[in-house]
Amino acid sequence: MTIPTTNLVTFPGADAIPEGARVDASRWDRQWLCNGEIRTWAGDTAPVRSPVCVMRPGTTEPEQVEIGRIAMVDRAAGLEAVAAARQAWDHGRGAWPTMRVGERIERMSTFIAGMRATREDLVRLLMWEIGKSRADSETEVDRTVAYIVDTVEALKELDRTAARFSVTGGFVGQIRRSPLGVVLCMGPFNYPLNETFTTLIPALIMGNTVVSKLPRFGQLVILPLLAAFRDAFPAGAVNVFQGDGPTVIGPIMESGDVDCLAFIGSSRVANILKRQHPRPNRLRCITGLESKNPAVILPSADLDLAVKECVAGALSFNGQRCTAIKLILAHADIADDFVARLAKAVDGLTAGMPWDKVALTPLPEPGRPAYLRGLVDDAVASGARVIGGGGGAHGTFFRPAVVFPVAPAARLYKEEQFGPVVPVTTFRELDEIDQFMRTSPYGQQIALFGTEPRQLAQLVDALVNSVCRINLNTQCRRGPDSFPFTGRKDSAEGTLSVSDALRAFSIRTVVATTATETNQDLIGEIVTRRLSGFLSTDFLF
Ligand code: G3H
Repeated sequence: MTIPTTNLVTFPGADAIPEGARVDASRWDRQWLCNGEIRTWAGDTAPVRSPVCVMRPGTTEPEQVEIGRIAMVDRAAGLEAVAAARQAWDHGRGAWPTMRVGERIERMSTFIAGMRATREDLVRLLMWEIGKSRADSETEVDRTVAYIVDTVEALKELDRTAARFSVTGGFVGQIRRSPLGVVLCMGPFNYPLNETFTTLIPALIMGNTVVSKLPRFGQLVILPLLAAFRDAFPAGAVNVFQGDGPTVIGPIMESGDVDCLAFIGSSRVANILKRQHPRPNRLRCITGLESKNPAVILPSADLDLAVKECVAGALSFNGQRCTAIKLILAHADIADDFVARLAKAVDGLTAGMPWDKVALTPLPEPGRPAYLRGLVDDAVASGARVIGGGGGAHGTFFRPAVVFPVAPAARLYKEEQFGPVVPVTTFRELDEIDQFMRTSPYGQQIALFGTEPRQLAQLVDALVNSVCRINLNTQCRRGPDSFPFTGRKDSAEGTLSVSDALRAFSIRTVVATTATETNQDLIGEIVTRRLSGFLSTDFLF
């Protein structure tokens, strides 16, 4: 079929980048953090190429801008980072894991102040490295700071609850949550700051020590924070580097020195990493993996609302969200009307550079436009059409395509597109929705649009054990961050939310004794003389 060449994006000339959007990444060139030192790597580096392209005079092909170089540490350096974390952990006897909660919170507050001071750098690096719009980049940074502040409050609350003794069945005991050990944190490119920190920060504040490998894209954005990490936390408590996964992460996992893996990415890679650990029973895994969240448009749906939510749900940050709506199932009676309105709304979305006030921006993954085009062509080969003017590409930009009706045999029906393609299919019976979720390898979320209470209730009851969040008349999303964020099957392991994450990165530990007078006196003396950090009734305000 003919690929549209209109409605695409215009890349600027090299001298047309606005002053307020420029970035100079040379300040963080080749940096990594190991054992409390910001080091400059003398070995291999890799270019960081922006999805933002420029047009050079006399050329017609957009050229990706190189905004910096990242240190690609080798096997030995990766193992040195994990050894530093292991030493800082020191069998749970290190300065950080044994520090009183109040002091850990003070250190985290120092870090928050350092992070706030880097806000504009972080926002600009997000724009340039992953093509996120300024508004969404600001939201990512601010939401992450808010997450850390809320995490501190949640830890205080957890600690207050643990400050009391339990007396039961003739025993007296104090139950607290203790850290697990060394945590390997690996975040994704689409939220390189937020999703890395929603595991790294709770892991750290619970007293674990951390090794973090940077995401595939969105690597530089972590580097302005290395100084804040170094200044706030003991040496080795946080170690940050970039390197080739198989070269660096393989040996780290094989060392057996990782106690907990926090990984946001594909189930394929998660499974490789887990299998590399020599003692899998010792490895706790907190993962966020793939998803194919459907939206269901029932005959009773308010179509204006459904279109608005589906556009935002499918195309915010160009569809590059694990929570994005990745397939729309529209009831056959209203499907044509819904798709016509949807295509009109999608065609009306504005495209531009991240610093423009636009909805659509270029994509960071090389080859993504061609991959998305392949998915569209495959669906068309099984009988679908591109509705509206989408499906065209220019350099790193792909104009969103609404594809309808997508047959179950098409790749778009099952495959996670992770990009700006909006597949729509039809259904007639509610059982087909249930059937879709049962046979899906994923189980993160679903969005239901309708106004008929009995029908919605029936679907909720059918689906509640297949997914972990059902969104009624609203798109799928992670927030608010106090809500549990998880998934079934190949979508996730463990639950993240501000308070759940503190639990995920810790283990309940109890000090107990028989409730004799002698033992109670003994505990009383330890507590009143403040002889122990664990056995304590100190109350954090
Ligand atoms: O990629 C997955 C993100 O956690 C999505 O977060 O739904 O708040 O955009 P969000």
